[in-house]
Amino acid sequence: MGAMNSAQPTRLARVLTGEVLDPPPWWLMRQAGRYLPEYRALRAEAANFVEFCLTPSLAAEATIQPVRRFGMDAAILFADILLVPRALGQRLCFGEEGPVLDAIDETAGLARLSSSGISSLEPVYETVRVSRAALTPETALIGFAGAPWTVATYMAEGGASRDFRRVKAWAYRDPPGFAALLELIADATFAYLSGQIAAGVDAVQLFDSWAGVLPEAEFQRWVIAPTRQLVRRLKQAFPTVPVIGFPRGAGQLYERYVAETGVDAVGIDTVIPLDAARRLQSRVCVQGNLDPVTLLVGGEPLANAVRAIREALGGGPLVFNLGHGVLPQTPPEHVAELARLLTAPIG
Ligand code: CP3
Repeated sequence: MGAMNSAQPTRLARVLTGEVLDPPPWWLMRQAGRYLPEYRALRAEAANFVEFCLTPSLAAEATIQPVRRFGMDAAILFADILLVPRALGQRLCFGEEGPVLDAIDETAGLARLSSSGISSLEPVYETVRVSRAALTPETALIGFAGAPWTVATYMAEGGASRDFRRVKAWAYRDPPGFAALLELIADATFAYLSGQIAAGVDAVQLFDSWAGVLPEAEFQRWVIAPTRQLVRRLKQAFPTVPVIGFPRGAGQLYERYVAETGVDAVGIDTVIPLDAARRLQSRVCVQGNLDPVTLLVGGEPLANAVRAIREALGGGPLVFNLGHGVLPQTPPEHVAELARLLTAPIG
């Protein structure tokens, strides 16, 4: 495991295990990316996004860039949740409109997938080693994967979706067949996260970006149950590595997610009211939830929103973050401004 685990715990690790820190540690989802000129320059060195993710020298540099510029408390591994479907044998490319996969056609398509390509993920573990070696010990390194449900949406829809009708229709018509897909994804995800942890990440985040599109019973079956099982397997293998769950859009089901999955921290999206977040905080560390558009706008609206989040949630374990990823149009100076706002105690 990383040098980190034997040395002083990082500020991130401290709040993930329940401590209260003022100012709170912070990082931003999608803190590496197109809003940074140095990222755009680096990205031009690879033929395509998948190659970029699988070239450790480039991916490690992308991992470190935002921390070098802004001094966040954590770096997030530069990779993508869709490398797992690719490792399972699905074709993946990134076009102008986002990711494109050859949509798997229910059970017949499932039969063509296998875990034999899992070793294609090994360059990501090398990215972890290179990044960890370059970061100071005070900076945590966060690994990640998509949660099984969210990864399944991309696999069954063939990319982003507006109505999720293909993936939901499969789940509703043929629950055992769909469960087989989720199991395949979950096994690959466990292997992927285990590889990241063995290479030195200090915590992992499960991105369930589309947790918010399912009715209650299906949320239980396809979001909570697979997440709980994955968390249990990770805890068995790596008892000291914190797990952050991010069931974006889960609304009133957040509480059940926190009560039942066993995550150490929960990422809250932008529309979760701060008093609801405070109730979640009585059970786990919370992470969030500044509106990415407020960061894009900057100025007084940014200062006010940051103060409101810190006043509401700063009395408990908090990782300051956005409610979703940094928008590509965000001026980097606004992130620098956020860094300044977060250095001062409100205390
Ligand atoms: O800085 C970081 O957050 C680390 C790297 C990271 C990326 N993707 C890099 C990336 C992380 C943590 C992700 C997670 C991810 N990938 C999610 C979950 C979070 C979320 O946004 O809900 C999802 C759904 C994906 C799948 C994905 N990858 C999509 C839908 C897209 C296209 C849309 C977009 O934002 O561009 C990607 C491409 C992608 N992944 C980019 C980056 C920096 C942009 C592509 C580029 O730079 O050319």
